[in-house]
Amino acid sequence: MKKLAAGNWKMNGSAAALAEVQALLAAHPDPACEMLLCPPATLLAQMNWAARGSVLKLGGQDCHTAASGAHTGDISADMLKEAGATYVILGHSERRADHGESDALVLAKAQAAIATGLVAVVCLGETEAQRDAGETLAVIGAQLDGSVPRDASAAQLVIAYEPVWAIGTGRTPTIAQIAEVHNFLRARLTAHIGAEAANTRLLYGGSVKPSNAAEIFAVADVDGALVGGASLKAPDFGAIVSALA
Ligand code: G3P
Repeated sequence: MKKLAAGNWKMNGSAAALAEVQALLAAHPDPACEMLLCPPATLLAQMNWAARGSVLKLGGQDCHTAASGAHTGDISADMLKEAGATYVILGHSERRADHGESDALVLAKAQAAIATGLVAVVCLGETEAQRDAGETLAVIGAQLDGSVPRDASAAQLVIAYEPVWAIGTGRTPTIAQIAEVHNFLRARLTAHIGAEAANTRLLYGGSVKPSNAAEIFAVADVDGALVGGASLKAPDFGAIVSALA
């Protein structure tokens, strides 16, 4: 399985930030892992042009369940694909919180994305209160059960474990906590999609940076990272890419 270094720019970046893409590709023209950036939708086509002929993969940060229609402000998987995306992040905790996205909606989006030919990066994660209450595995298990398509293959699906309390905070779970969750996710996914689960990439996300990447990537069942803040700067994301090689 090829590991995956994925960057989520969230609602950050501008045309000027595309210089970071050029710098990243100049420093890492042929990394051992797969390299993915998910910019705001408005930058996808420009980033696709900036990355033309390179190994960099592009993704969206959300999509609608429908291919087109009367859905003001939304974007479809087909539109992302036309703009150059081959991946789409779905069910990020910021969307679950800011837009009230349920597991059922995330599942429908993942099905739409996969039907379009995009790889669905489905995000899961517990809040700090849930972890403190000892509910982490129950919460994550329920999210996985409710939002991951049961007929997906390893090539169509990526799971990202992002503890909500670790996102953008500089705090990370212990290595033992990450290992426990990823091991649990692999087993739970196997119950759903069988042998495909062994080759489905399980990413860790939440305050991944150059200084902690190698330690996190050494954990069994961690097959890469979904990186927020540190993906905005080529040297930082490049160091994470190198740590995954
Ligand atoms: O999707 C990635 C993200 O939620 C993690 O953000 O800034 O903690 O790396 P950050």
